[in-house]
Amino acid sequence: MSEIVRSFAPQVAASEEHAAGTDFGRSVIAGLAAAPKTLESKYFYDARGSRLFDRITGLAEYYPTRAETALLTAHAEAIARFVGPQATLVEFGSGASVKTRILLDALPELRSYVPIDISGEHLKAAAAGLAADYPTPVIPLHADYTSAITLPPAVPQGRRVGFFPGSTIGNFEPAAAAAFLERARRLLGPDARFLVGADLQKDEERLLAAYDDAGGVTAAFNLNLLHRINRELGGDFDLAGFGHEARYNAIEARIEMHLVSRRRQQVSIARRRFDFAEGESIHTENSYKYTGESFAALARRGGWRPLAQWRDPDGLFSLHGLAVP
Ligand code: AVI
Repeated sequence: MSEIVRSFAPQVAASEEHAAGTDFGRSVIAGLAAAPKTLESKYFYDARGSRLFDRITGLAEYYPTRAETALLTAHAEAIARFVGPQATLVEFGSGASVKTRILLDALPELRSYVPIDISGEHLKAAAAGLAADYPTPVIPLHADYTSAITLPPAVPQGRRVGFFPGSTIGNFEPAAAAAFLERARRLLGPDARFLVGADLQKDEERLLAAYDDAGGVTAAFNLNLLHRINRELGGDFDLAGFGHEARYNAIEARIEMHLVSRRRQQVSIARRRFDFAEGESIHTENSYKYTGESFAALARRGGWRPLAQWRDPDGLFSLHGLAVP
C-alpha cells in the first residue's frame, strides 16, 4: 500500500462510521438487515429526489397533482366557507406552497399562514414569494411535522385550519396516519379544522401507470435512493443491478414501490455487507389508496369528525374537510 493510501484509509473508515451513525445511516442499515429488506420513503427527497418528484407531478400518468389542483380551484368557495373567517392556515410539509396559492386567493380574510417544512431552503423561498404576492402574514416553522412540534408564539389564537394536500397521508401506514391526525388535532387546538387530500382506489392499470411512467421518471426517483446511499454513506450499489417495480397490493389497498435485484450480488455500505438473491426486492414505499368511507374511518380514528368531502367527477382524488368533534 502506498503512503498516501495508508494515511487516507483510517479517515475514510472514520467518515463511513460517522455516516453510519446518522439517522439516515441507521435507518438504511436496519432496513437492509431486515427480512424483507426495506428503505424509508422519507429519504427519497434529497435535492435530486425533490427535483425528480417535481417532474413526476407534471407527468401525464401521474393524475393526483392535477386532480387535486382542479378540486381546490373548483370548490374554492365551499372550502372558504369551511375554513371560516379570520382563521390561521397551517400547512404540513409545505414545500414550494404551490397549492396554497389557490387557497390564499380564495381566503382574503386569513389572519396568518404557517408553512411547516423540514427544508429550510424551501421554506425561505416559499415564504418570501408569498409575502411578495399576498397581504397575509407568513409565519414559517422549520420542523419535521412527523415529530412532536409546537406552533410559534406569534401564531394568533382563534381557529387554526390544517392543510395536508398531495395524498402524502397515503405514504404513512394507517396506524401512523391516525397517530399523525391525532397529533395535528392537538397542535391545532379546540376549534380546529383540517383539509386533507387523499388518493382514491381505482382500477389497477391506472394506478400502476401512475407509479411506473413510460418515461422512466418514477424509476429514476426510486433508484435515486441507492444513489443517495452511495453518495452519503459510501455505499457501492451498482444502480444497473436493480430495477424499479410498482405493484398493487389489493388486500392492503396500496401501491408498493420496490427495487428488485437483477442478479445475485453483494453490496457494502459503511463497511457492512448485504447479500441480495436474484429477484430479491427492497420495499421502498407504500402509497395507500382510500375510499370516501375508509378515509372517514381513518379520520375518526385520529379523533376528527368528517364534515365535508369533495371529489372530482372522474372519482380520481378526494379532499376531506374535518372538524374537531
Ligand atoms: C408524495 N407522495 C404522495 C407520492 C405518492 O404518490 O405516494 C410519492 C410518489 N411516489 C412515486 N410517485 C410519487
